[in-house]
Amino acid sequence: MTTAQKTSPASVYRSRTPASHEAFKRTGEVMPGVAKGAYYYAPYPVTIARAEGCHLYDVDGNRYVDFANHHTTQILGHNHPAVVRAVERQLEQGIAVAGPMGTETALAEALCRRVESLEMIRFCNSGTEATLHAIRLAREYTGRHVIAKFEGGYHGSHDAVEISTSPDLAKAGPADRPVPVASAGGMPPNATDNVVILPFDDEAAVEAIIEEKRDELAAVILDPKTGVIPQRLDFVKAVREITAKYGVLLILDEIVGFRASPGGVQSQCGILPDLSTYGKIVGGGFPVGAFGGRRELMSLLDPTQGKVRVFQSGSFSAHPVAMAAGHAMLEVLTPDVYERMDRLTDRLVDGLEGVFTRTGTVATAVASGSTFSIYFTRGPVRTYRAVAAADKGPVSDIYLSLLNRGYYLSNGLAMNCLSAAMNESHIDGLVAAMAEALEEN
Ligand SMILES: Cc1ncc(COP(=O)(O)O)c(C=O)c1O
Repeated sequence: MTTAQKTSPASVYRSRTPASHEAFKRTGEVMPGVAKGAYYYAPYPVTIARAEGCHLYDVDGNRYVDFANHHTTQILGHNHPAVVRAVERQLEQGIAVAGPMGTETALAEALCRRVESLEMIRFCNSGTEATLHAIRLAREYTGRHVIAKFEGGYHGSHDAVEISTSPDLAKAGPADRPVPVASAGGMPPNATDNVVILPFDDEAAVEAIIEEKRDELAAVILDPKTGVIPQRLDFVKAVREITAKYGVLLILDEIVGFRASPGGVQSQCGILPDLSTYGKIVGGGFPVGAFGGRRELMSLLDPTQGKVRVFQSGSFSAHPVAMAAGHAMLEVLTPDVYERMDRLTDRLVDGLEGVFTRTGTVATAVASGSTFSIYFTRGPVRTYRAVAAADKGPVSDIYLSLLNRGYYLSNGLAMNCLSAAMNESHIDGLVAAMAEALEEN
């Protein structure tokens, strides 16, 4: 029997991480709990001292294999030499200036080459901003103002989209006719008025709702929930067909989906959205967002044609360091890199499913591309309601047990991911750690 088996995961965790506990207490004096909401898990997060390749090192000297990869952004692992070199080169030219430096054009060209639907693109600082601007464009272009989004879809933190991201089912209405529920405090009571909620994985319900609301709808925004609530590719395709049929724009949120393949989820499905939004990996680990699509739509932003119809700027938008890092990352991300990560992800999912079967655990591992989630429920998990029905009870202990064994996942065990810096030993190590964690709890 190991020490970890004799004591609770939380007490082992505390004994391994006293310096992180001190750092947490210090942070709490000057910030409300943590530096950002996603950092928190009980009893306190580890503070990371350093990252390298597929490893993180905390301030107590513990080493972890990193399956969180900065909320999926570090697809190559940490400090890939090509990205570091590109950043260093850019820093030698200047950190940022109030004018174009050309790095933004190089990244825009790379993205437009990679994704067929992207005729033009603009950069901003986060995925949140990307979806905000894409929605504004859709509203201005169509002259309509209602947006449809999917229950459980996440598009960042602004009032138009932080609706029904993880609603209380008691307030969420019927599964095939969900009602909008504000996800954050502080939103105006009418924030839900301009939002229609669609169910994942139900083409008939989606069509019925869109047909009914077609005259008000500017756009449907779809986050295909890559590796979190992976959608059938034929469902994504059907959403494209339905939106086109009723004259509603489709905004495909590829902020995580761009991890799924070199051209994102849209190239896997063979669809052309009207607009797409990007973030995360396109900035190489630096703050970034981007939105783009048909020239006709994007030209509403063009100041060279007289008065712009939709203004977009931002002090840090198209920041040259993020542009250089993102471009360097995309150049390394060739199709064979994706294929290798996909194979490792299949190995991981098979291994985890084997562990769940052998230990009689009601759990499932879902994945798409190199992103995966673990839920304590029987699969398949294709809707928000299936995720909501999963048992949340074991999550915290299993998460801490994995940390105690040197595996750093995303703290709800959803939206974990691989990096290209990993090999079979890291995958098999996580599978073995999961078997031990389940035995311990
Ligand atoms: C699908 C999706 N869209 C939008 C966002 C928001 O991006 P950001 O956190 O850069 O604002 C996220 C963030 O996780 C996301 O997963």
